[in-house]
Amino acid sequence: MKSSALLSLVGSGTLVAAAASSPDGVLTEYAAVNLLDTPCETEFHPDQLDIAWVELIASNTILRVNITSGEQTRFPLKNPVGVPSGMEFLPDGYLWFSEVAGNSMVRLDPKDGSMTEYPFPLTGIAAVDDLPAGIRVTIDVSGNRDRGAWFTAAGLNAIGRIDIDTFEYDIYPLPNLLSVPLIIQGGPGSTMVFSEIVGNRVGTIDVNTKEIKEYEIPTPLSLPQGVCIDKEGLIWWTGTGGGNFGTINVTTGEVTEISIAALRAAGNSTVVGDPSLGTSAALAFPGPCRVGNDGKVYFVEGNLVFLGNRVAQYDPETQQLVEFTTPTSLSAPCDLNNQHSDAVYFAEFAGAHLGRVTY
Ligand SMILES: *[C@@H]1O[C@H](CO)[C@@H](O)[C@H](O)[C@H]1NC(C)=O
Ligand SMILES: *[C@@H]1O[C@H](CO)[C@@H](O)[C@H](O)[C@H]1NC(C)=O
Ligand SMILES: *[C@@H]1O[C@H](CO)[C@@H](O)[C@H](O)[C@H]1NC(C)=O
Repeated sequence: MKSSALLSLVGSGTLVAAAASSPDGVLTEYAAVNLLDTPCETEFHPDQLDIAWVELIASNTILRVNITSGEQTRFPLKNPVGVPSGMEFLPDGYLWFSEVAGNSMVRLDPKDGSMTEYPFPLTGIAAVDDLPAGIRVTIDVSGNRDRGAWFTAAGLNAIGRIDIDTFEYDIYPLPNLLSVPLIIQGGPGSTMVFSEIVGNRVGTIDVNTKEIKEYEIPTPLSLPQGVCIDKEGLIWWTGTGGGNFGTINVTTGEVTEISIAALRAAGNSTVVGDPSLGTSAALAFPGPCRVGNDGKVYFVEGNLVFLGNRVAQYDPETQQLVEFTTPTSLSAPCDLNNQHSDAVYFAEFAGAHLGRVTY
């Protein structure tokens, strides 16, 4: 691609008004970023919902966006090869994330964007321990169940925790080899819930007893990615490879599964919005999920390399799916956030926009 053509694709940071509207909601791309930023997760400080903090993976940067004024400020990571992971505001008021490729957890102060690094404890392999980039491969960070930042350490096949007061680390290896934990969220009761993309399971870890429980996904090779819970503590999961999603009731152990292809074939899916291009029309590739304040289950379709172009809304009451297309083609909507009471926020990994579905 000629550099002039590339430049014309690079966003200017201005507000963009484009919408896919239906009685069930409106999808809007509310801000533009650079094509090569590859934004994924959006988080808000609970006391400051007009400021979106967005992880820009390839740019190795955390972006602050005032969603009212559109003003953007960039805070690059200190480690030039760190690569920010999924993130979460924790009870100390700081934004916590890890370095997927680096060897640290990072605490960001939302007042000024300053960052403090907490290097991972030693592996005992001196050559590796001293590298600015490491083998722990932490993918996601969450918490708000105790005074811990809990993270998936895919490289160690373990769930990890750093105490946000003492900065001490603990590592909890998963029972099965090659589980590859990916996304972690606050789970039912005193647990954290996480997906095991290779293990084809969803797991929980109790933050008090540290007991790990695992639930098999019915269809083999579903590649479970999204995990989220509703207000009653029912777990919802998505299978990116299986094109499926479902529930886990941790009281009964019951796992349910719904096929998106079957929903579409039954005429239980409505597509809303401009006919942009993307893989979602053929294969849903459901990714990260969140339950909205409206009780509906939201998940992105075709995040990361899957080049989808839809955000889906499933109503457990009516069993109907509404699929909102992004105005931008091949946008790969990445993660979802449900902190606003009337919208879910997402970022487009490949589409150079930040978006939301207002319901
Ligand atoms: C965001 O922008 C609006 C409009 O300019 C302004 O009123 C508000 O104070 C800003 N919020 C913060 C937290 O800076
Ligand atoms: C789990 O199933 C039991 C028995 O059907 C039910 O009473 C309970 O409400 C379910 N839990 C959730 C979180 O849905
Ligand atoms: C489609 O919706 C109808 C009506 O709500 C329901 O009876 C049926 O089970 C649904 N089919 C699928 C595959 O979800």
